[in-house]
Amino acid sequence: MHSYTKVFGGRARQKSTRRRGGNLTPIEFGLPTLGKAEEDAVLQVMRSCWLSSGEFAENLEIEIQRIVNARAYATGSATMAFQTLLLALGVGPGWKVSFPAITFSGMPMQAFIAGATVQLVDIDENGFMSLPSCWQETPNQVVVITHLAGAAGPVRAIRSQTKAATLVEDCAHLYPGFKSNDYIAGACSHSDFSIFSFYPTKCVAAAEGGAITTRSDLPLEQIRLHGFRHGARRRYEVSDQHWVYDIVNIGTKANLTDVSASIALVQLKRIDELTARRRAAASWYMERLRNSPVRVLHGNLRAAKKHAEHLFIVLLPDDADRNAIRVELKKNKIASSVHFPSVHLLSFWREQIELGRVEVLGALKNAELYSRSALSLPLHAALTEKQVDLICKVLLNNVG
Ligand SMILES: Cc1ncc(COP(=O)(O)O)c(C=O)c1O
Repeated sequence: MHSYTKVFGGRARQKSTRRRGGNLTPIEFGLPTLGKAEEDAVLQVMRSCWLSSGEFAENLEIEIQRIVNARAYATGSATMAFQTLLLALGVGPGWKVSFPAITFSGMPMQAFIAGATVQLVDIDENGFMSLPSCWQETPNQVVVITHLAGAAGPVRAIRSQTKAATLVEDCAHLYPGFKSNDYIAGACSHSDFSIFSFYPTKCVAAAEGGAITTRSDLPLEQIRLHGFRHGARRRYEVSDQHWVYDIVNIGTKANLTDVSASIALVQLKRIDELTARRRAAASWYMERLRNSPVRVLHGNLRAAKKHAEHLFIVLLPDDADRNAIRVELKKNKIASSVHFPSVHLLSFWREQIELGRVEVLGALKNAELYSRSALSLPLHAALTEKQVDLICKVLLNNVG
């Protein structure tokens, strides 16, 4: 099959490296693995002349609903999904929204913009939210649990501590239908809402995209599109004689385009194949890092194939110099990243904490330790064993 990963991530880049006089092909951090099926799907959308939310976005929702057995709403991104949800819940001043300190800043940022008080709590040794004993439920409370890197976090345990709060799962690092024991991502069996991301580097890629799944009947469909009674396409349909221009709800612009939905639909249908390829890459890493000073995050879940393998994160020993390691990786044309530095250490959030606009609950000791030692290595479905070999050699040569 024709593979865009090869064209854009491989040969094309190799040429430019040679032009600069280097011998190495860059190893990208995360790449979408796109082929003829995705290309055909996008062409179909373009030829239909309807590029915004229409048949493909609807079909993506139907497919997700079938997989998770809960309502699904496609959105332009996970961030937009969360913004839609906060509007639907009426979150604003007087509300508290709790997050693990190790998360993507864009999510607490939405709660902050809504005027709610953001609360940050510590993580456990696996990078998952751990509510401290000082945490108290308030009447207007949302709790967001982040499933870091591709492992399912302790939703049930958090639910048992949060009887009245709205519990939201940030599933940006999982995919709809991901299974781990009796957990199914998106089914909302022990939560109220799940949010997915179809950002190009995620397990299910699109140009940008996201989704909310839920068992609730909040009018998310209307809220994600300006509060209109009907969807984007029906507004212009000749056959719809009953269309009345009306705004029936508060709203924002968070709908998913058909261009993106068409790619996500194909990717979702290929998810077993794509996950198997990511798993193979993860197992090559595991073999090479076994008995080394580097700890693989979620190593046991990865070995048991209970990991969605979005990110391959290692925890470096205390005496390792992460910046120096990243420089060496870069010299070898290997991309790396950090997911995530603790939110409370980032400049904007530090300022808000000092101003008393954000609450830090308890000491964020584990989050600080994690922030210092976490390093994300390349992981995508087109990564080769030879590339993993090189990455591990450079890493282990520089760990100390
Ligand atoms: C944990 C987490 N949540 C949410 C998001 C936001 O996703 P999106 O880019 O689709 O808005 C990201 C993005 O990387 C993420 O890593």
